[in-house]
Amino acid sequence: MCGIVGGVAERNISNILIEGLKRLEYRGYDSAGLALINQGQVLRERRVGKVANLEQAVLASQVSGSLGIAHTRWATHGKPTEENAHPHISGNVAVVHNGIIENYQELKDDLEALGYVFTSQTDTEVVAHLINDALKTTPSLLEATRQVVPQLKGAYALGIVHTDHPDELITVREGSPLVIGVGIGENFISSDQLALLPITNRFIYLEEGDIARLTRNSIEVFIDGQLIDRPVKELDATVSNASKGEYKHYMLKEIYEQPEAIKQTISQALNGNALREDFLASAIQDFANIQQVQIIACGTSYHAGMIAKYWFEQLIDLPCQVEIASEFRYRSPVIVNNTLYVCISQSGETADTLAALRDTQKRAAAKSLNITTMTICNVATSSMVRETNHSLLTLAGPEIGVASTKAFTTQLAALMLLVLKIGQIKQTISDTQIAEIVAELWHTPKVILDTLQNDKEILRLSELFVEKQHCLFLGRGTHFPIALEGALKLKEISYIHAEGYAAGELKHGPLALVDNDMPVVILAPQDDMLDKLKSNMEEVQARGGELFVFADENSGIKAKDRQHVVYVPSVNAILAPIVYSVPVQLLSYHVAVLRGTDVDQPRNLAKSVTVE
Ligand code: F6R
Repeated sequence: MCGIVGGVAERNISNILIEGLKRLEYRGYDSAGLALINQGQVLRERRVGKVANLEQAVLASQVSGSLGIAHTRWATHGKPTEENAHPHISGNVAVVHNGIIENYQELKDDLEALGYVFTSQTDTEVVAHLINDALKTTPSLLEATRQVVPQLKGAYALGIVHTDHPDELITVREGSPLVIGVGIGENFISSDQLALLPITNRFIYLEEGDIARLTRNSIEVFIDGQLIDRPVKELDATVSNASKGEYKHYMLKEIYEQPEAIKQTISQALNGNALREDFLASAIQDFANIQQVQIIACGTSYHAGMIAKYWFEQLIDLPCQVEIASEFRYRSPVIVNNTLYVCISQSGETADTLAALRDTQKRAAAKSLNITTMTICNVATSSMVRETNHSLLTLAGPEIGVASTKAFTTQLAALMLLVLKIGQIKQTISDTQIAEIVAELWHTPKVILDTLQNDKEILRLSELFVEKQHCLFLGRGTHFPIALEGALKLKEISYIHAEGYAAGELKHGPLALVDNDMPVVILAPQDDMLDKLKSNMEEVQARGGELFVFADENSGIKAKDRQHVVYVPSVNAILAPIVYSVPVQLLSYHVAVLRGTDVDQPRNLAKSVTVE
């Protein structure tokens, strides 16, 4: 989604802004722009398409300045055109904005009545005009912003500069992430710390409602007009973590990083084959009280939650519901006492999940219900982590490819740790069972490494998908969510229409789609459902469907005419979904590359979905 970078320095920051925007490209966008303040003028460049287009324009025009704001836009109000790209200017004010101003139409009508002329269809332009208007009553840019903020409804983050304030950058966080990068004699803002990592590793994470004023040598943060102290945190993420290295795409790199990412994630919780005593220690009392689990998530994270439901119920006898956050937040679900609400989110900023969490907390408080909230997340500083009672981090490192891969498998590893911890506290699983599963968990990175050896074979098979228009993914049990995940991966990066089904549902409808031209991907681990799955495969073959089977090496499934088999190393059935994620990721990746799509930044999608 949209990205913000801004800064106030002594040196020319045009390059820093452009480099920052490049580091935000992975989030998805369709146009980009920047504005620099130089000798009492706003110098602005905007371009449709890639940041590289903007970079060319900046190189050609040689715009420079030591105070500026920049933006990548993901269109919501108005098409991706140069006129709609940020920054938006009114008089001497320039503004960049993430999020949505919900009451913009009302504000626009009022502003037009006052004579303001709009040059874009965006909601953002109202902010620029409102600040310009407020400056009629105060010379202070900070004060003008303070007057405008209460008029804005919605979720937003803002960066604001003015020609008469050449050493001042104003920023606002209200429902959309914003960090301040603390430098020496220079300070920066961004919607994502990744953008600023080449310049600083010291950050201030703004809270909802914060308005900050940055100069070269000072940072003041205000809430409700009061100056407050927000801590500076030092981050140890390195710049190299966020580069592609020798890989052609971030997605491929991230697929290959999974063994290490899982190892990192489980290491924080385990001591040999036992759970560490200090693992989630602060949650012990809360976990002892819970009687059920409600998972809330979107997209791939929702699929992780679906798998955890099997684990919670089968392994530790704890009822578990899973729901897509965009549905959960709007259907007034009954909030039940002694429930653990678990948000799963790679970014920790997904608008629907965050809103569902906040709504749940509000409604539980209104009824004095005793609930516990927790987040499974890859970003330690995210809103969800900060706003839930407990959190469990996936230590996957930054995930740049829009399609989630290592975030997903580490979510699964983290969820298994959570299941074991709660089961241990509630004594619904024995220490021996825990030790057995943990031993298998330690073994998973090696099994994934071995599975990655199939890459070339999967590439060869992917050639058979290139011309296809549709595809089915089938699995049973915990591999039904993997079928959904495989279909999601294929459609989002290769643009082939794909559906995932529980294989048992085949004859209740989707079998009608199967013909000679329908590839059907089967997930066939060695589990209790294998024989039933083999019958489903027969059903497909009998209708002429072509099978692509990822099968356990001991499954007895053999390649034959129109049945391709890639063998996956034997793995414990409980943890198999972690391993079977990998071949479907590789398949989608190779099909997408062969079809020539923008793998890391597929069309219309964004990495962090911070608007509804
Ligand atoms: C798909 C994908 C998305 C995200 C979804 C939720 O590959 O990445 O479906 O899983 O947008 O995002 P997070 O996990 O950040 O809440």
